[in-house]
Amino acid sequence: MDVGRIVCPQPWVLSQRKKKFGPQGDFTTAPNFSALFGQCIAEQLHEVLSQLPMANILEIGPGNGALAATVIETLATLGQPISTYYLLETSPSLQTYQRQHLQSISEHTQTSCQWISEVPENFIGVILANEVIDALPAERFCITDAKTHAYQGVTLKADQWNWEPIPIPTKHQTSFTQLITNHPQCLIHTPYVSEYRPALSEWVTPLYQRLQQGVIVFIDYGYHAAEYYHPERTHGTLRCFYHHQQHDNPLWLPGIQDISVHVDFSALAALATQNKLDILGYCTQANFLINLHILDKFNPQIDSQEALQKLLHPIEMGETVKVLALGKNWPHTLQGLQGRQSIL
Ligand SMILES: C[S@@+](CC[C@H](N)C(=O)[O-])C[C@H]1O[C@@H](n2cnc3c(N)ncnc32)[C@H](O)[C@@H]1O
Repeated sequence: MDVGRIVCPQPWVLSQRKKKFGPQGDFTTAPNFSALFGQCIAEQLHEVLSQLPMANILEIGPGNGALAATVIETLATLGQPISTYYLLETSPSLQTYQRQHLQSISEHTQTSCQWISEVPENFIGVILANEVIDALPAERFCITDAKTHAYQGVTLKADQWNWEPIPIPTKHQTSFTQLITNHPQCLIHTPYVSEYRPALSEWVTPLYQRLQQGVIVFIDYGYHAAEYYHPERTHGTLRCFYHHQQHDNPLWLPGIQDISVHVDFSALAALATQNKLDILGYCTQANFLINLHILDKFNPQIDSQEALQKLLHPIEMGETVKVLALGKNWPHTLQGLQGRQSIL
């Protein structure tokens, strides 16, 4: 199933709903729980930007602009100039919101913010994407037995949306065969339902190729491949959010609720290697933030203890969210990953 295309037959419904983030929306992301998240990211960016010839930041999918706001403010406090803060946002309503939200911050810190529709060529700086890849379209498949593989499509019968097996489209046959060849453990416990993103390469390759020098940081819900395609994960990773309730039925309220599919970090890393990027490290969000001194930054007079828990606790975001950092022409390590590198 193409989550974005089939379950959301009227995409304008999603882009017109203004309150997707925060208490009145469907979900809350890390930068909206607490400014501590953005302060840690800014500390990491400071380390990188201070060693590059141009201090550009490109944030992909900036949502309501909360991360950009904290990063810009914190870097100004740290005395780190930003050449340009680029924002790549596909949703027109979110872009309008970001422009309003960031106007006064960019003015008082004298930071140039620029909205773009594609990654600039020969980019020097840091590229950042927090909880973006889990929102990209994914295909859902079902392995019934060793020989019967199908996509799960969606049909509408008597006003009811239903899952239905559909043949794997010709254009995806190679990528699907490769997935099953690489992960034969998917055949152990059938029926086995899971997801993958055959279009990931199309999305990520321009990023990888247009980075001339610097670092890419992906932060997202996800696993490395052995964990993602674990034989016992027989129901995949697809989750839906509606008014902060989490469930696994994307056929309910199509086009209204938020749908997310975890990220296969091994796939992202493999594509990076193919494009001659270095893997600087992969760790949990908790490890990354602790390395960036979140506990020292925590001030009980200002920061919420509950938000800190949310960011760090293993069953909240602490372990389910991972950080993957990649480098090009970047011969250094990253503070956030110190001593925590694990193999993908
Ligand atoms: C869950 S929100 C995360 C927002 C923000 N990064 C945060 O941490 O609060 C996903 C973001 O990705 C954007 N997005 C969705 N599809 C995208 C795509 N194909 N390319 C770039 N951004 C996309 C959405 O519009 C939204 O801004």
